Amino acid sequence: MKIALIGPPASGKGTQAELLSKELKLPLISTGNLFRWQIRRKTKLGKMIEEIVNRGDLVPDEIVNKIIKKETKNKRNFILDGYPRNLNQAIFLDSITSLDYVLEIWISDQEALKRLTLRRVCQCGKTYHLIYNPPKNEEICDECGRTLFIREDDQKEKVLKRLEIYHQQTKPLIDFYQKKGILVKINGEQPIKDVFSEILIKLKLKK
Ligand code: AP5
Ligand code: MG
Repeated sequence: MKIALIGPPASGKGTQAELLSKELKLPLISTGNLFRWQIRRKTKLGKMIEEIVNRGDLVPDEIVNKIIKKETKNKRNFILDGYPRNLNQAIFLDSITSLDYVLEIWISDQEALKRLTLRRVCQCGKTYHLIYNPPKNEEICDECGRTLFIREDDQKEKVLKRLEIYHQQTKPLIDFYQKKGILVKINGEQPIKDVFSEILIKLKLKK
């Protein structure tokens, strides 16, 4: 199965992608995590994209598309978190593979702003929320024991910019995938486990 998750910042793409990847045993490809990892490791790519990601802008399509081509090569199944992000990327993806489902997780802008102030993340890719999905020890990752951190792009003005980019560039994809008949709408404004149940039911993996 090839699934992509789209939705505004904080809609729960990363959270649900991780749950789905464990449940269905599918490899997870998260462009945001991949970029943050490169930035923290100070790789050549990391240095090139650091400023762009930290200010909340999109990384140029040529760079992202090249990475996706490499990451999806030889994989029959996968979950994409955060890709495609605009029409150009969606058309590119179509040229190299075909998706089975696109899950659109929707939440309001107000909810996005509320959630991101208490998000904590780990270098290993795990995401927490200090109230809704807390780690066992406040600043330590349950999975790998590293110290959790706050994302550079989670400051209010950067979140507002990411929301604007979402509305302008990513939202048109909803129509694009609806016309293809593979769009599945998910209510992201419910507890994490209920969002996950809705996904499994709508993918007909649970009654
Ligand atoms: P990316 O990392 O993809 O960021 P984003 O799209 O802004 O989404 P977030 O990761 O902020 O939110 P999420 O939907 O994953 O929510 P989460 O599960 O964490 O991209 C970052 C940057 O990388 C981009 O700005 C760009 O620069 C670059 N980039 C990435 N992909 C790109 C591409 N394709 N093209 C170009 N550039 C690209 O949840 C959020 C919080 O809420 C957490 O604290 C979580 O615990 C909590 N939470 C989750 N679900 C619930 C719930 N149901 N109820 C209550 N709390 C919840
Ligand atoms: Mg994410």
